This record gives sequence, structure tokens and C-alpha cells, in this order.
Amino acid sequence: MIHMNVTIGTPLQASAYKVLLLGSGELGKEVVISLQRLGVEVHAADRYADAPAMQVAHYSHTLNMANATELRQLIQQVQPHLIVPEIEAIATEVLLEIEEQKIATVIPSAKAVNLTMNREGIRRLAAEELGLPTSAYRFADTLESFRAACDDIGYPNFVKPVMSSSGKGQSRVKSFAEVDAAWDHAQTGGRINHGKVIVESQIDFDFEITLLTVCAKNPQTGVIETSYCDPIGHRQDSGDYVESWQPQPMSPAALEESQRIAHKVTTALGGCGIFGVELFIKGDKVWFSEVSPRPHDTGLVTLASQFQSEFELHARAILGLPVNTERHSIAASAVIYAGVDDHNLSFSGLNLALANPNTDVRLFGKPEGFKRRRMGVATARAETIDQARELAQQTADQISVHQN
Ligand SMILES: Nc1ncnc2c1ncn2[C@@H]1O[C@H](COP(=O)(O)OP(=O)(O)OP(=O)(O)O)[C@@H](O)[C@H]1O
Ligand SMILES: [Mg+2]
Repeated sequence: MIHMNVTIGTPLQASAYKVLLLGSGELGKEVVISLQRLGVEVHAADRYADAPAMQVAHYSHTLNMANATELRQLIQQVQPHLIVPEIEAIATEVLLEIEEQKIATVIPSAKAVNLTMNREGIRRLAAEELGLPTSAYRFADTLESFRAACDDIGYPNFVKPVMSSSGKGQSRVKSFAEVDAAWDHAQTGGRINHGKVIVESQIDFDFEITLLTVCAKNPQTGVIETSYCDPIGHRQDSGDYVESWQPQPMSPAALEESQRIAHKVTTALGGCGIFGVELFIKGDKVWFSEVSPRPHDTGLVTLASQFQSEFELHARAILGLPVNTERHSIAASAVIYAGVDDHNLSFSGLNLALANPNTDVRLFGKPEGFKRRRMGVATARAETIDQARELAQQTADQISVHQN
């Protein structure tokens, strides 16, 4: 039997155990808080100053993480033990190098980060290598081939830039008449002007879930084991999540199939950490949609529902520590938007929002808001899912945003 002995030093001293977080949004902020509690020295990086996770980290670094030279320089300067990507827009080829040269451990693995930053990489792995059920799909990188792909897949279909997230550049195309507009939208909405898009057949699902899947070392054997949180149901608006709840009721057969798919894809990607596996469900049938090799926005609900939130689970798993995915409550989350394009915003109504003992709020502290930017989240616990959803939404609605 291997005896695993995880050792953590003292932050800000020579023995420090250092984590470099690439991307400093609200999900990263919660990961940083969890790491801080375990005595880890945290460095938070992003393209702009005062990002949410930077505000709770020991050090912050502002740079263009999609630039290989800048990213290499930062890693050399910080000398982290772990590199923890929180976003997809990173020069992932640098992470492949770093892992190859054993300079640091990339979470969960350089392969996972590299394949999931591009929809083509993860889709081909899931559908073609692993044989998992997905929507029918085609890739296209010219208007001509895009028109043909749309006709091939049929209507309605979903068009997404291969390099994009949070619904950016995405459209649901209902007929050939909408094809050219969808192409233009994809060309301007993607993350990097890459040109390529995926066309997916529409899956007529009953509901969609995120299956948070944790790959963590067994404390006695050191062998990586997979565990699952209860399924999270969510509602998306224009490709962006607006509310989520846990658990999402589903048939035992669909749950088993969901776990089989999640196990297959996370094992293929490799490494330790949490994954957000997005699945579409109809009756007992399950389709793989995509996967984040990191905490998932819909998983914010676990702050209220689980003994260890998805952020604590991630922190523990990446440090080689044991995890517990148990849920203690039925809960829901609802997003708080800025509603305006401005910086230096104020938030009021917290006293009312928090008057109910079963509610909670996170304000992310983003320096700048825009209409549909997520500035905070409300969570609520209740006896039933419907009650939790209603209470979370009420709580979010009680917060109002003011310009100064
Ligand atoms: N093939 C499909 N069939 C039916 N619905 C789909 C399909 N593809 C996407 N959707 C809907 O659009 C949502 C967003 O799609 P997807 O997750 O691929 O985009 P995204 O930009 O990666 O979003 P996010 O970053 O928020 O996860 C899905 O959660 C689902 O509601
Ligand atoms: Mg998604």
C-alpha cells in the first residue's frame, strides 16, 4: 500500500505550497478561499486588475494569458506547484510544455485543458474516440461549407464558434433563411477570431443537468477514484445559466448512464479535480454535451446544498486530499445581473434578501458591470425544489443595483 503524505508549507515563506490560478472570476474566487483555508499560497492571474479572485489571493498578476510568452514568464516568476486554469482563453500549448517538462502540475491535466478549450477537441474525443452519444454535428470554416453543414444537420440546429463560452456567438438556426446571419454572428462573437464553428442537431431533451464529477486520490492507496455530486438541474437563457437547483430528479437508469458517460470522459481527460459534465436527458436516454475541467457556474448551488461545495471539492482534489460529495439540503441558485453598463456599482436590499434564514448571497466584487454580466448569486434551501427555486429567485430580486 502506498502511503500518501500530502504536505503544505507556510504561505509567503520558502516552504509555501503555491497555486497559480489562471483566470480570476467568481468561481476562482471561491476556489481561492478554499485553498486559503488550507494554508496554500495563492497567485491569481487575469487580463484585468482587481478581478474577483485577485481580491482574496496573496498575489495577483495582470497579463494576457492567451499570449504564450507572457504566460511562460509568469510561470517562471511564480514557480507554482499547481497551475489551475479557471477559463478557456489560455495559451494551452504552454501548459502542455510545462507538464511535459514536469515544471508544475496542470489541473486536472494539460490534455484536459487543451482539449476542452476548443469544442472540436472535446467533441471528437467524446463522440469519435469514446463512442459517447452526442448530438449529430459538423464543423465548418467557410460560409460555403457552413451552409452545407446546416443543410446536412437539418433544422433547427445550434451553431457555436469552436472557441467560445457562455453562449457567445451562438445561435439557434430555425431555417436556411437564418444561416448567413448565424455565420456572421459566430464570426464576431467567438473568443479568438478563429473562424471555425460547430453545427449541432437540436436535442429535444426533457431537461439538462450538470453532473459534477470529482476525481480525487484515495487517501490510503493514492489511486484516483471518481465520485459524483447529485445532478444539478439548470435553466439557460441565450447560452448562459440563469438558475440552477440540486438535486434534479431523474430515473435510476438515466442517472446510471449519466455517471457512466461522466466517468468515461473524465477518465480520458485525466488528472485530479472537479469536472462539470453537461448532459441532456430525455426519459432514460442521455446525451453528452460538453465538460468543464473545473468548477461549473451552475454548481454555485452547492454552496448551499453540500457539506463541501464544488469549490472545496476542487481544492481538496487538486491537493491530493479526500473528498465528500454528500448533499445535506435541497437548494437552488439564481443569478444577480448588473442590469447596466457601468463601474463602481452599489448593491442594496441585502438586509431583505438575507432576512430568511435559508438564503444566502455572494457578491463577486467585479470592478465593472454590464447589462447581462453576472455580479452575484443568491442561494436558498427549502423542503422542495420548487420552493428552493422560488426563494432563490425572490432573494436575487431583492438585491438592486445602483450607479454611483
Ligand atoms: N445540440 C443542442 N440541442 C439542444 N440544446 C442545446 C444544444 N446545444 C446547446 N443547447 C442549449 O444551449 C445551452 C448552451 O450551450 P453550450 O453549453 O454548448 O454553450 P456554452 O457557450 O459552452 O455555454 P456555457 O459556457 O454557459 O456552458 C445548453 O446548455 C443548452 O440549453
Ligand atoms: Mg455549456
